[in-house]
Amino acid sequence: MHQVNLTDNIYYLGFNDRRTHLFENFWPIPYGVSYNSYLIVDEKIALIDTVERTFIDDYLDQIEALTGGRPVDYLVINHMEPDHSGALKAVVTKYPNITLVGNKKTFDMVANYYKLSTQTLEVYDDSELPLGKHRLSFTTIPMVHWPETMVTFETSEKILFTGDAFGSFGTLDGGIFDDELNMASYEEELMRYFTNIVGKYCPHTQRALKKVQTLDVKVLAPTHGPVWRTDLNYILGKYEKWSSYATETGAVIVYGSMYGNTAKMADVIARQLSVRGVKNIRVYDASKTHASYIISDIFKYKAFIIGSAAYNNELFPAVESLVTKIEHMGIKNHLLGIFGSYGWNGGGVKNLQKFAENIKWEVVYEPVEEKGTLKKEKFGQCLELANAMADKLLS
Ligand code: FEO
Repeated sequence: MHQVNLTDNIYYLGFNDRRTHLFENFWPIPYGVSYNSYLIVDEKIALIDTVERTFIDDYLDQIEALTGGRPVDYLVINHMEPDHSGALKAVVTKYPNITLVGNKKTFDMVANYYKLSTQTLEVYDDSELPLGKHRLSFTTIPMVHWPETMVTFETSEKILFTGDAFGSFGTLDGGIFDDELNMASYEEELMRYFTNIVGKYCPHTQRALKKVQTLDVKVLAPTHGPVWRTDLNYILGKYEKWSSYATETGAVIVYGSMYGNTAKMADVIARQLSVRGVKNIRVYDASKTHASYIISDIFKYKAFIIGSAAYNNELFPAVESLVTKIEHMGIKNHLLGIFGSYGWNGGGVKNLQKFAENIKWEVVYEPVEEKGTLKKEKFGQCLELANAMADKLLS
């Protein structure tokens, strides 16, 4: 394999996964994902995180080639999730004198996940670990996105190893560094990664950004996706925007519909928004589009207009699943519109109103509910809902 240097003695050691369909067995990854580990070779040798277990054999071979057969002294664990700790046990088995470096939350996870007890070094914010010419310092960033998450700063080259923070879905197809890639092709997967994997923890991400800004960082080296060495403001700006729930003018309309009645209402609302001058409008069928794409767009646009058919006097199942996820993520700062239809008894709109109470977004206009197919009066109310939303969005 190519040797990929961040600097003379700091190496990228990553693998592309184009085989897995669902990341965390839930999130579709049509463009795959990379697992990035890093190696620092000095008087002491340190690995920064590992990789997913599928790649253990090649990973160990590459470490051996880069170290010239010297043993690895430290394994820094920024994040314990198994896509990064998958090779931990193999590394410890190969280098039994290795010391695991983590914070007070890390080693309990090591024991529980891997039934391992080996030498450990507990570090705290601003602890330093000299390796020779290179020195590492540590900063905890709890809940971005697990309790033990931390970042590791190499002080001579000013490289920040960030774990999942600043990561992206999408494999590294030749290019590893941001200046080697067309970032436009990563933008959607970068946002889908942040919003779905980290997005529940926006306040924690804001605190982490403040900590990162105190460091003089030249390179951001995450565990997924591009290594940022040229345009750090690009990714830092996006994290600042997304984690503060800043949105653009636009609307996401989602519906759950069995026989097309609720879908028809969605199209009427979308058309009227467009007539009123709203340009960014996305309409999704909740049964077809995976929630990860919808959630990403909800983070992007200010208005969310949700429609549900009644299903056994409850929400349509795909809508129920989606709004439950949104509630769990605690997304803030949105406008909400509600619509739906039913055959003999309600259940869709009624439960969307409960969602509105829980999520506490500003409800625009009144919920529009039709019995059966869309008729004149409710058609007019769909227009009024769209007009009220357009007024809010364009004011
Ligand atoms: Fe990439 Fe949270 O693991």
